[in-house]
Amino acid sequence: MLKKSMLILLLGLFLVVLAACGTSSEETGGDGGEQPADTEETEDTGSDAEATEDDSAADTEDDKVYTVATDNGYVPFEYLDEDSGELVGFDIDLIKALADEVGIEIDIQAMEFSGVVAGIGSGRFDIGIAGMTITEERKENIDFSQPYYDAGLILAVRSDNDEIKSVDDLSGKTVATRSGSTSETYIKEKTEGTPEAFPQITEAYQNVIAGRADAVIYDVPNVQYYANKEAGGELKTVGERLTGEQYGIAFPKGSELRDKFDDALTTLKDNGTFGDIYEEWFGERPEGM
Ligand code: ARG
Repeated sequence: MLKKSMLILLLGLFLVVLAACGTSSEETGGDGGEQPADTEETEDTGSDAEATEDDSAADTEDDKVYTVATDNGYVPFEYLDEDSGELVGFDIDLIKALADEVGIEIDIQAMEFSGVVAGIGSGRFDIGIAGMTITEERKENIDFSQPYYDAGLILAVRSDNDEIKSVDDLSGKTVATRSGSTSETYIKEKTEGTPEAFPQITEAYQNVIAGRADAVIYDVPNVQYYANKEAGGELKTVGERLTGEQYGIAFPKGSELRDKFDDALTTLKDNGTFGDIYEEWFGERPEGM
């Protein structure tokens, strides 16, 4: 008697399990993935690199390749090495070290800077690192890590220009910069100059050197690097740093990666790795590291 009811019970259980399996494979089989996957039940197909963005929640950390959006023309943070043609820079080394620490695989993709900001805001990419300033406006669409670099803006002109001595001398002048950058906003809101924004910052510098634009306003480390190493003495900075800005790593709103990267950043700051990478690119260690 007891045995029989046990059997029935088992059979019932078996049917329930079967039904559950049927549903689950239907849900995960298709590429639609409308339903947020709340468990790790997805069978590994080995094709996760090609999986669509919206099923990321179902992927296990081990096999998902996360996309990193960056720029390719922002010395010394991310740029193409002339000899090897490879993407190198402080941001590139940092994001690789962080991904290692977090234990995920990344695929770095280079694009225009404004594409990085837009692409993270829309959730098209998982991670963005591009010397991106943490601003209140961007925080509406982007979650930032803790700051990893102190920057700010600075004014520069052609070396033989003695007329422009500060941002107060920009009335009626054209001021070149990069599209979608904090300096574009700064020129519009804080100076009398007319902004002229280029997709690549080197075009802005070259226009100033060629005399087609009167000045450039952009991030201190980039202007200094360009003026010292690439402008052949034809570009000089004027005055002091205009604003203080801090760079953060960018994530789509609500991304669970943010806290993981934040913790990893703290670890690398504490164990000296961050200081090592920083020193390699900026020639000195950050304060207190
Ligand atoms: N810090 C400035 C900003 O966030 C400029 C950044 C430019 N970065 C780049 N990779 N081009 O707007």
